[in-house]
Amino acid sequence: MTLLCPVCSQALCRNGNSVRCENNHCFDFAKEGYLNLLAGNHKKGSDMGDNKDMALSRRAFLSKGYFDTLLGAVDDVFTSHCKEDASVLDICCGEGYYSASLKQRHPDADIIGFDLSKEMIRLAAKRKSGNTYVVANLFHIPVPDSSIDFAFHLFAPFDEAQFMRVLKPGGILVTAVAGENHLWQMKEILYENPYKNDEKPPRTSIPFAEKQHADGRIVLDNNEDIFSMFKMTPYFYHTPSEGIAKLQQVPQLATDISFALYIYQKPLAE
Ligand SMILES: C[S@@+](CC[C@H](N)C(=O)[O-])C[C@H]1O[C@@H](n2cnc3c(N)ncnc32)[C@H](O)[C@@H]1O
Ligand SMILES: [Zn+2]
Repeated sequence: MTLLCPVCSQALCRNGNSVRCENNHCFDFAKEGYLNLLAGNHKKGSDMGDNKDMALSRRAFLSKGYFDTLLGAVDDVFTSHCKEDASVLDICCGEGYYSASLKQRHPDADIIGFDLSKEMIRLAAKRKSGNTYVVANLFHIPVPDSSIDFAFHLFAPFDEAQFMRVLKPGGILVTAVAGENHLWQMKEILYENPYKNDEKPPRTSIPFAEKQHADGRIVLDNNEDIFSMFKMTPYFYHTPSEGIAKLQQVPQLATDISFALYIYQKPLAE
């Protein structure tokens, strides 16, 4: 799949260990095999994505398969809507667990993952999955208009204009948000009065096709995994210290997991 120059939006062509556009803007592959396509003006107004510690926690937790219910659900949507050689975009891909797993299941798919965090992309590229990984900003996705058959977007910021731009007519977008009971038993430890999640879909005018649910229960038998999971959640930033101290004492946790998947489809061209 073609990538676009972050400076002038022209197509990038590979030449050895770098890519170059017709205006001679040149970007080298990092030793792990990813590209950094974050132009100076794409950094403004945003932090630089998740840090190394968060990237390593996510890697440690997801690689144990705890959220494979979600992976299976995304795969089912792909399988029911797309050809095996579909072009796929993992939006804010994190450390690449879902896109690398999808590639194993669908080797002919042409998959690009991008994230603002260099630490996340470094880990994703190290998987050597056959996917392309790029450091890029959601608000300047470096792929051409109407080039993506299937995009998925798990727990990340939303940008309707960019998603509409990159999807092919008829292309599918899957967004996952935390379901009502997601991690309920962990929240009971963290908070005196926990709330259920509202499962709200993103605000968007991309035509909505379908809502699905993927639910399960996982058992974490050590505090390291419990804490890695906690670090992946927004609660990590909003929990009083007493709640965190309580969680640090928990040796084992059985908790509900629940994901709401909202499926959108760009209209076919008239
Ligand atoms: C909660 S994590 C989810 C990662 C991955 N989708 C997963 O489920 O494992 C959110 C990710 O969004 C990335 N992110 C945040 N703002 C971004 C932006 N403006 N452009 C690209 N990525 C961004 C973060 O670096 C982080 O990796
Ligand atoms: Zn250029």
